[in-house]
Amino acid sequence: MATAPAKLILCGEHAVVYGRPAIALPLADIRATATVAPLPPGSGTLISAPDLGGQWRVAERPDEPLSGLVMAVIERFGVPVDLEITIRSAIPIASGMGSGAAIATAIVRELLAYSGQTLPPAAISELVYESERGYHGTPSGIDNTVVAFEQPIWFQRRPDLPPLIEPLPIGAPLTLVVGDSGVRSPTRLPVGAVRERWQADPARYEALFDRVGALVAQARAALAEGNACALGPLLDANHELLREIGVSSPELDRLAAAARAAGALGAKLAGAGWGGVMLALTTPEQATTIADALRAAGAANALVTTIAATG
Ligand code: PMV
Repeated sequence: MATAPAKLILCGEHAVVYGRPAIALPLADIRATATVAPLPPGSGTLISAPDLGGQWRVAERPDEPLSGLVMAVIERFGVPVDLEITIRSAIPIASGMGSGAAIATAIVRELLAYSGQTLPPAAISELVYESERGYHGTPSGIDNTVVAFEQPIWFQRRPDLPPLIEPLPIGAPLTLVVGDSGVRSPTRLPVGAVRERWQADPARYEALFDRVGALVAQARAALAEGNACALGPLLDANHELLREIGVSSPELDRLAAAARAAGALGAKLAGAGWGGVMLALTTPEQATTIADALRAAGAANALVTTIAATG
């Protein structure tokens, strides 16, 4: 069995599509898993996803992004074709937690392990990026990167170069509460809407993206120092900018406000927006109070997670 973690974008989503930096964190305790079992010769390749409500032969749904990924890995790495891949995931779909990238990463790792091979995280990330493109159109690549590397990362696209990917030092453990708005929102919708607005008024959106980029750089310093008190207001400011960019929603605003009122150090929507999750930064002592406040404010779910300090 192979697994891969969920992820959160701590700050910088959307602006990252336009070349500004963003910070993403893996959530080690929320994972997707893939297992492979051989089938009799001539059976072909079957994907079973009991939690996601489906079972299909990759040859019958070649345009489905996971089918495409599986066929590409089998062909490129000489994996035997007669097999059943079973996917399970504890990550809510279309919620900003990287469920698609985690499932794809677990599948790639498991197919490679099944055929006695391994690849470095960068190569796995590239394979997963191809399947993410099938879902999202032109993703920045941050999801597949943080999931495949499985460490906090600084990510920045660069013209004519591969993206800049740097592991981030975390000076002290971070306690986060993740609140799920319960609204499912496919990434490509807000991403497409932002592109239309940017095309209509590039100067305004470039200026907003610059402001996001500046606070992401400040967040990096606060993380390295382990200074949660400095990080909190940066997250609040990022939420405000995401509102101005037009990707928040009444539910996400309500949850962020409820978290702050319950004592969070900062709160923002996380991921593409219009639905999905928000995150609140807190002290460990205050975490349960904030999770309760989020549920009382209508969150479909609220969970507490910790990002470990690095070396
Ligand atoms: O909500 P998610 O996990 O799909 O994250 C989207 C992040 C964006 O910056 C909005 C898009 C991207 O491709 O980076």
